[in-house]
Amino acid sequence: MRALARVDLGAIERNCARLAAVAAPARLCAVVKADGYGHGAVPAARAAQAGGASWLAVATAGEAFELRAAGIEGPVLVMGALSAAELDVALEARADVVAWREEFVAGLPERVGVHAKLDTGMGRLGTRDPDEASRVVEAAGDRIAGLMTHFATADEDDTSFLDEQLRRFERWIARHPGVPVHAANSAAALRAPAARFDMVRCGIAIYGMDPLHRDPADHGLEPALELVSYVAEVKRARPGESAGYGRRFVAERETWLGTVPIGYGDGVRRALTNNADLLVAGRRVPLVGAVSMDNITVDLGDEPVERGAEAVLIGARGGERILAEELATRIGTINYEVTCGIAPRVPRDYE
Ligand SMILES: Cc1ncc(COP(=O)(O)O)c(C=O)c1O
Repeated sequence: MRALARVDLGAIERNCARLAAVAAPARLCAVVKADGYGHGAVPAARAAQAGGASWLAVATAGEAFELRAAGIEGPVLVMGALSAAELDVALEARADVVAWREEFVAGLPERVGVHAKLDTGMGRLGTRDPDEASRVVEAAGDRIAGLMTHFATADEDDTSFLDEQLRRFERWIARHPGVPVHAANSAAALRAPAARFDMVRCGIAIYGMDPLHRDPADHGLEPALELVSYVAEVKRARPGESAGYGRRFVAERETWLGTVPIGYGDGVRRALTNNADLLVAGRRVPLVGAVSMDNITVDLGDEPVERGAEAVLIGARGGERILAEELATRIGTINYEVTCGIAPRVPRDYE
């Protein structure tokens, strides 16, 4: 197999069990949008339910439909904005929807769960006006199934804006006692007990990645995904010989180069050019030269490996590990983007 994303469903299950225990008595909603952050939405959803998630959340109606088509039962929330056509799909999937305008609620059928959304500072979906949000609650009547908001800075060291969002939200929810309340993403669920309310909506943490961008082990979370390939070719490079487009690597001394058949067409970002390590046959070696669409090269130094040796881009071997967080930090992005970016060309293998 030239490139493979190996997904440990047991890890997702255990991460969910851990998050459910941390959040209890609040319930756990597992966020499986964007194909389960690249892990595969349907298997991730099943593992999350096995780990104690009582709700599932997705961003789009199509994602809810995919879960139902696979036979997944239980409550599903579509968190994103919905066009009229998308609303039909969401309803067909028996999903709950998010609302923040009365006209939208007026167009809803009799039997659908409605989650009213106050924008307490995210500045994206939801209404900033608590009175409008309350009118949505009234318009929903007995269809009201939740009061929600979303935090903009729950992953930042400075909690002042998170605290401010919480204050705004608490003032509003006090008007509607008895309606289930949910607000926290993974970061808030882990670090802000006051934000847990009746349910937490965890995405990144269920996959064993750290919402605070450091080390998932800090929260007892296990990374669920490994990205592996192999060394397809090994060759000697003499001083002055180069590897890859643009000759972005030129050997300064004699060395062994390995070619690994995975590239940006598989989601290995080109910004990792001369800026990543792999675990090749268990040894940490640098990626050298440009990331091309289908291949990368690594510098094996004085120790060549057999053709066919394993090359791990994300994962742990022996005492070494490469986290999605490490790749993200190298290129100035977040772990979310690393696993979401693994291309469909890479088969997922579930264990
Ligand atoms: C509205 C909403 N709630 C919860 C989440 C889950 O966030 P996280 O993956 O940080 O736990 C997301 C994801 O972005 C979201 O958009």
